[in-house]
Amino acid sequence: MNKTISRKTGLKGTIKIPGDKSISHRAVMFGSIAKGDTEITGFLKGDDCMSTIGCFKKLGIDIEVGKDKVTVHGKGLKGLKAPVEILDVGNSGTTIRLISGILSAQNFDSELNGDASIQKRPMKRVINPLSLMGAEIESTNGGYAPLKIKGKKLKGIEYTMPVASAQVKSSILLASLFAEGKTVINEPVASRDHTEIMLNYFGADIKNEKGVITSTPVEELYGKNIEVPGDISSAAFFIAAGLIVPNSHIIIENVGINPTRTGIIDAFKAMGGYVNIINERKSGGELVGDIEVKTSHLKATTLEGSIIPRMIDEIPVFAVAALCAEGTTYVKDAEELKVKESNRIATMSQELGKMGAVITETEDGMIIEGGQRLKGSTVYSHLDHRVAMSCAVAGLIAGGATTIEEADCVGISFPDFYEMLEKL
Ligand code: S3P
Repeated sequence: MNKTISRKTGLKGTIKIPGDKSISHRAVMFGSIAKGDTEITGFLKGDDCMSTIGCFKKLGIDIEVGKDKVTVHGKGLKGLKAPVEILDVGNSGTTIRLISGILSAQNFDSELNGDASIQKRPMKRVINPLSLMGAEIESTNGGYAPLKIKGKKLKGIEYTMPVASAQVKSSILLASLFAEGKTVINEPVASRDHTEIMLNYFGADIKNEKGVITSTPVEELYGKNIEVPGDISSAAFFIAAGLIVPNSHIIIENVGINPTRTGIIDAFKAMGGYVNIINERKSGGELVGDIEVKTSHLKATTLEGSIIPRMIDEIPVFAVAALCAEGTTYVKDAEELKVKESNRIATMSQELGKMGAVITETEDGMIIEGGQRLKGSTVYSHLDHRVAMSCAVAGLIAGGATTIEEADCVGISFPDFYEMLEKL
C-alpha cells in the first residue's frame, strides 16, 4: 500500500496512542512462564506482539485475545511444551532474542525463524552470552536466523554487556530464571528496564545496583494483571509533529514515561521544545503520564552517550524534527541504528534526502542541517515501520504531496497510525 501525506497546519486535539510494544511482548512472555492467569489491558495488537502470542501458543500456552484484553493462562517455569512446528517471530527482534533465553533452558529442542529482515539482524549478541550459560544454539546462517536451539541445563554467569541492548540483557535475565546459581550482568550504559520491573512484579529476584544487575533464581513466577501504558516510541511521532507543524497543540494521554525511555523528551526540551509531562502516576511499577506538546522554535543539539539507548527507536523521527531546527544537529554513538529493522542511518538519510534534506551519514550517526524546506516526494519505507512513520511526519511540513511506498508496515507497531494522524 502507498500512502500520500500533504502539508498541514494546526494539529490539535487529545489522543491516546496504542500500547507499549516492549511491555506488551514481555507481558505475554512472562505471563506464559508464570503460574496462573495474566490479564493484559492496553495490549498492542501490532504484528510484532501477535508474533510473540503465536510463538507461545505453539509452546502450549492458552492465550485468549479479546477486544479489550489479552488473557494468558500461564503454566509456570516448567510448563512449556515442545513445539511441533518452527516458531515464526515475523519481523520481531524482541521476540527472537528474548524467547531464545527461555528456549535455551527447556527440556526440549526448538527452531526459530522470521522474515527477510529478521534474517539480517545479528543474533551472536544473544548466542554468545547464552552459550556461556551452557546453551546450545546453532545458527545455520552465520550468526543470523534461523536458529536451532537444543534445550540444556544452564548455569548462572557474570557478563559485561558489550553494547547497550535491552533485548540482550532480557534474554540473559530470562535464561537466568532457569539457571543454577546467580547471574550478574554489568551494564555500563543503561538500557530500558521493563524486564527487570515486570519480572520482579511477577515474583522474580532481580536487583540493580549502579548498573550491576543480579538475578537470583526463584521457585516460580506468579501471573498478575498488567495495564500496558501507551508507547512513547509511538507517541514520539506526534510529539515531533506537534513541535514542527505550525500552530499545533496536542495532548497525548497515558504514555509510559519510564526514565530509560524518555531521552526523546529530554532531547526536544534541550532544543527549546514545549514538551510537558502532566498527571504523572505509576502502574505495575512503570511511570505513566500525559504529554502536552506545542509548536516550538527548535535549536540544534548534539545527541551522544547515554541518551542514545534512551531514545534509540525515536532517532528517525528526531532527525525529521532536527531538519526544522536552527543550526546543525549531530547524532553520535548511534551505530546500533544500523542493525534495526533497516539500517536507519542509511534509510533515513536516503529518504529524507529525496525530500531535499541535507543529512550526512557518519560511522556512528548523522549530521543534520537545520532550517531546511522540504519538498514532497515519493519515498520508500524499506519495510521499516519507524521509517514509514517518520517520513509521514516529514510529509506534514513538506511543500506538495509526499507518497510513502510500502506504507502499511506501520502495522508492526502502530496499526492505526494514519487514521490517528488524520483525526488530528
Ligand atoms: C527493545 C529494545 C531495543 C529497541 C527495540 C525494543 C526491547 O532494542 O530498539 O525496538 O523491547 O527490549 P535493542 O535491545 O537491540 O537496543
